[in-house]
Formats: sequence, structure tokens, C-alpha cells
Amino acid sequence: MQNNVLILDFGSQYTQLIARRVRELNIFCEIKPYNKLPEDLSIYKAVILSGSPYSVRAEDAPHVNLSEIRGKKPLLGVCYGAQYLAYFNGGNVEASNTREYGRANLSHVSGDEPFFKGVSKGSQVWMSHADTIKALPEGAQCLASTHDVEFAAYRFKNEDTYCIQFHPEVYHSTDGKQVLQNFLVDIAGVAQTWTPDAFVETTVADLQSKIGSQKVILGLSGGVDSTVAAVLLHKSIGENLHCIFVNNGLLRKNEFTDVLKQYEGMGLNVKGVDASARFLDALAGESDPEKKRKIIGRVFIEVFDDESHKVENAQWLAQGTIYPDVIESVSATGGPSATIKSHHNVGGLPDFMKLKVVEPLKMIFKDEVRRVGASLGIDKTLLGRHPFPGPGLGIRILGDITQEKVTILQEVDAIFVNGLKEWGLYDKVWQAGAMLLPVNSVGVMGDERTYEKCVALRAVESTDGMTADWVNLPYEFLQKTSNEIINKVRGVNRVVYDISSKPPATIEWE
Ligand code: XMP
Repeated sequence: MQNNVLILDFGSQYTQLIARRVRELNIFCEIKPYNKLPEDLSIYKAVILSGSPYSVRAEDAPHVNLSEIRGKKPLLGVCYGAQYLAYFNGGNVEASNTREYGRANLSHVSGDEPFFKGVSKGSQVWMSHADTIKALPEGAQCLASTHDVEFAAYRFKNEDTYCIQFHPEVYHSTDGKQVLQNFLVDIAGVAQTWTPDAFVETTVADLQSKIGSQKVILGLSGGVDSTVAAVLLHKSIGENLHCIFVNNGLLRKNEFTDVLKQYEGMGLNVKGVDASARFLDALAGESDPEKKRKIIGRVFIEVFDDESHKVENAQWLAQGTIYPDVIESVSATGGPSATIKSHHNVGGLPDFMKLKVVEPLKMIFKDEVRRVGASLGIDKTLLGRHPFPGPGLGIRILGDITQEKVTILQEVDAIFVNGLKEWGLYDKVWQAGAMLLPVNSVGVMGDERTYEKCVALRAVESTDGMTADWVNLPYEFLQKTSNEIINKVRGVNRVVYDISSKPPATIEWE
């Protein structure tokens, strides 16, 4: 990959955000842990040092060998990175006595420096640090200050090494992207060629040379990642891509037939396998959430294994893995954490897992997957679908699962989700669904007493599902949806709306 930027991660919560901002500039970048410096640095045109929860003054402060970087390539230190370059080059860093978290404004900026092109005095920046630089190292020059932070930005004279105490990657730093662009494009000379179209072109060429005329199997889920991976592979190897779409009986109402039709319309070579009965049989009588998940996972593997045997001479398994799944993380508490991978006994693996693995999306973020999908001409409704868990409605039916409960929940879910679409709310919500509770309550319909099920509606805002907040849906919408559910879905006489955030709750109820 040409025009590559290296981000060395010291464990900051914002490291992935730096990468996303850089990618938004149409520049490719990779994140590596600070203690796993790539052997071949020649492919990187610039290096960024991230922030960190550590103090440079601590005994266990993370160290990095910059001998092949500093003075040889443009280098940007952010927060910890800036303090690190100050402290270990003869400057002084101390605990700060004023609170330096949140918004601040630049009170002085060296406007004639290309680094601050287009950024003026007063520009808002985001601070998040406990230590502060009290004295610059020799040969360094202050470029910007805020009210509380004298050295909000500095550079080493006669080399392209720049340091900033604030976080340009956070949206609250209003000119943060401009600063990154100044550094990467104007100073480091990195070309802005990383576009979805360019990604498609290079990935298709890579896949063609890697796979040649061999066959690939891919499990489609109806979700964005597996769909985009399938379309990319289809574009590369055509009919040699064999997709398998399994109905586990726990999908949304009509989802199996609708999505299958959509896939076929896209020209994909896809086999729909209706294994609903097999899943429901295996789940019968089981109420424990973790055991239900395990059963669904096991049966999926069995079904997928059976189906993959039907594709003769398949050599590859394609997966829709995306970049956040593969970035090795630096632990904020226990030092660099080795990524722990579960090791399987190779002899005991299902046959499809012995195939070579191809992961065409493993270097891109979720928002980029959508942009790539759009560039491949995939329908907007497919790309904008809410996330849906692999175990499907199985973890939204609390307690044991029966066909009757699945049907009730599918009806409720369809009314809720279609309502969100009709009211123009669907795209404002990150994920929405309904839970069938193991609770019967008393109601009255006409003159009859009822004793029926309760459902909970859940709609959340989130960026990655790690944290989430409930959505303030209009009362009129909730009122109409509740009426429609109780009137139309037999067996349900009560609807509640979940107003819990994550944490402490989770998005799914199981
Ligand atoms: P929680 O409930 O942990 O969910 O807040 C966070 C996100 O993960 C999805 N989720 C799952 N996805 N298999 C999946 O493929 C699972 O077992 C599973 N459990 C939760 C959930 O839908 C949400 O988007």
C-alpha cells in the first residue's frame, strides 16, 4: 500500500478515532501497538504517536524506539506522544495543577507555520490530560498555547517533528482535521488517494491474483459486512464464489425470503438453506441465555459444514471481518495485551474451518464498508440496515424458544421496525428491536379479561455498540406502535419501552 501512514498506539481510547479521521482525508493508515514496530518502515510516509492513559513520568511508561523514524520521516506526537517527545529529549513534564479536560481555545497560534494553515486564534480544541509540558526540550519551539496550557503545540526546529497536546481526532477540536491534513498532506506529502473506488480496484486485483480460479465459500447473514464482502468477491471471481445463507428460524419476519431475493437480484451465486426446524429442535426447552447462544452457534457450524461439503473443491472461506476486529489493542491497565485467540484442536475442526481464509474488509472501518458498498452499487436499504445479532430473535425471546413465540415476536418486531421506517426514524436509530418477556400480565379487551404476554421495545443510539443510549422516540409514535401491536398481535396485551442506557444495561436483554 502506497502513501501509508503508521499510527503507533500507546493505549489511548481515541487511537481508532485518529485512524478514522486520517481515512476521512482519503489517506490509508494502519494502527500498530507501540511495542510492535513493523520491521519494514519504508512503506510509511509519516508516523503518528497516539495518546495514552500512562504518564511519561511513570516507571512503566511505554517506550518506543524512534531511531528509524525521528528526523527521517514526518512525525506527529499527540498528547502522550507530545509529552513523550518532550520528556525524553530534555524537556520537563509535570502533573498539571489545573483541570485540563474538555474544551479549550487556542489563545496563540503561529499562523505562518504550515502546520497551522487555516487555523486561527480562538480555534476550539479538545484536551484530555493529567500531565502537562512545563518546559520544552532544546531545539523546540512553541507553536500554540491555550489559557491553561502554554505548550499546546510545538515543533522541533529543522525537522518535521510536530507535537500537540490537544486531540485533533476528536470532533470537538473544530480544526482538528485541518491540522491533520496540514501535517499529512502539506508537510509529509502523502497523497489523498484512498477512496472507496480505489479500494475496490486494488482489492479486486488482489483477490484475483490470490484466489485465481479456485472456489470460495462465504456465509451471508443479511448484514452489511458479509454482503459487501460477497459483492467484492463476486466482482473478483464471479461464479466461483459460493454463498450460503442459513435460515436459523430466528430471523425477522420474511427476512429469509426477502433478503434471498435481494441477493439473487444482485447476481450472487447464493444458496438459501432453511434449517429452522433443526435449530428449533436443538433449542427446545432451553432457557439459559448462554446455552441458547452456544446451541445456535453449534448448529450453525453443523449446517454450514454440511453445506460447504456440497461445494466441490472449495479452497477458501471468505469472512466479513472488519478492521476493529483485528486491531491489536494496547490494554489501558495491564500494559500491552497480547490478543488472545482461541486455539482449536486442528483435528477437531469442522472441515470448512480448514479452508484458507480470505477477509477482504479486514483493513477498513464500518463506515468505510458502507462507502465501499455504495461504490459497488449495493442498494442503500441494504447498506443502512441496523445491526442484528447472529443468534437473532433467539436472544430476544427471554426463556425457552418455541415456534409460537418466534412468530409473535416477528409480528411485533415488524410493526415496530416498519413504523420506524414510515415515520422517518429508522436512519436516526442505530439499532432497534423488540423483546418477548417471560411475563404474563392481566389486561382487558372488550369485556374480556386477558392474561397475555408483555413485549419491550428497544431503540438505541450508538456508534459501535460498546456504549449506547436509548432513543427519545416521539410519544405519538410510541402510542401508535403500542396500539397497533396490541390490536394486531394475538397473545400480547402490554407494551413497554426500554429506557436503559448501556452501561449499565446491555442492548440485548440476554
Ligand atoms: P449487547 O447486548 O452486548 O450488544 O449490548 C451489543 C451489540 O452486539 C450485538 N450482539 C450480538 N451479536 N452475536 C452477535 O452476532 C451475539 O451473540 C450477540 N449478542 C449481542 C447486539 O445486537 C448489539 O448490536
